[in-house]
Amino acid sequence: KRIVIFASGSGSNAENLIRFFQNNDKVSVIQVLTNNPHAKVLERAKNLNISALSFNRVAFFKTDDVLNILKASKPDLIILAGFLWKFPQFILNAFPGKVINIHPALLPKFGGKGMYGMHVHEAVVMKKETETGITIHYVNENYDEGATIFQAKCAVLPTDTPEDVAAKIHKLEMEHFPKVVDKLLNA
Ligand code: GRF
Repeated sequence: KRIVIFASGSGSNAENLIRFFQNNDKVSVIQVLTNNPHAKVLERAKNLNISALSFNRVAFFKTDDVLNILKASKPDLIILAGFLWKFPQFILNAFPGKVINIHPALLPKFGGKGMYGMHVHEAVVMKKETETGITIHYVNENYDEGATIFQAKCAVLPTDTPEDVAAKIHKLEMEHFPKVVDKLLNA
């Protein structure tokens, strides 16, 4: 089974997934794609000998360039791990039911575009939530509204800062994301 990962930032989830499947003879991450030529995820992929490419808005939204890269990679699963752009419908249409995303909150709460990294954790702290968590879901045309695949929760203490919440979320992501992907691909 072939996985392609899209990421825009640090890429800790991408690295975690690559490492998890590194010696797996049935599932492998075959490519990392990013919209940010300076994203740390490029370096992480290269260090792990995974093909990594960056593309720009035109290549993603206005041409078939990224679509053709994906068609050549023949992914069984496309994973958005901290990817900041909304997937265009024409790419989603080419891979029905094969695009998933991880969101650092308990959707439908704190969903919506641009809720990336610290912003969502600040909102959780400001709203005095007593719990938060991660949501892994299918991607549809409305971004965070695709069917939920998995959620995991953690407590939010009154003394927690957004950084404390981010650390708890990160831990949940590292622990659960690869296992959820493994189950999806071996179902
Ligand atoms: C993660 O918190 C993920 O839930 C969100 O973006 C962040 C990506 O972090 N979508 P990283 O780039 O994998 O370190």
